[in-house]
Amino acid sequence: MKPRPLSDLVRKALRVVEPQFRLDRHHGHHGIAHWSRVWLHGRRLAAELDVAPALLAWFAYLHDSQRENEGIDATHGARAADFAVGLRRRRILTELSPREFEWLCEAMRLHSDGHVEGEPALRACWDADRLDLGRVGIRPDPAYLCTDSARDPRTIAAAVRRTHAARRRRPRA
Ligand SMILES: [Fe+2]
Ligand SMILES: [Fe+2]
Repeated sequence: MKPRPLSDLVRKALRVVEPQFRLDRHHGHHGIAHWSRVWLHGRRLAAELDVAPALLAWFAYLHDSQRENEGIDATHGARAADFAVGLRRRRILTELSPREFEWLCEAMRLHSDGHVEGEPALRACWDADRLDLGRVGIRPDPAYLCTDSARDPRTIAAAVRRTHAARRRRPRA
């Protein structure tokens, strides 16, 4: 069977994440614009680290999906992993092998703990998220990135430019 294009996966992920998301998905720091940029970074890192792009797509759209606030929410990654397990049981999250699914859950559980070492799949997920720190005024620090690709000054500069452009476009609340 021919695999479905990743754009279908993203639409499916949005269909399950958006209705249950508790925060402002259009104007918050952890909403759709962030998920989309994490996916943009993730898809490039997936190609460079030879990781399944579907894993990075699910990470992008799920990792902050269970946040209960925009600040410190230490267990949102663990709740995202639990949410993913439910999607797997309901046969919605079907694109990953058992091992890839384990990596996805581990990447989500640990994504805000500052780790920089692990399987390529985990490091790709964490860097995809951290490259988007410019949206909250933080320039990604190479010391806290996990891959040579993300640590490249050109990658960081491009990621920061992208968040600056997004901040200019964001309407004032
Ligand atoms: Fe997060
Ligand atoms: Fe995030």
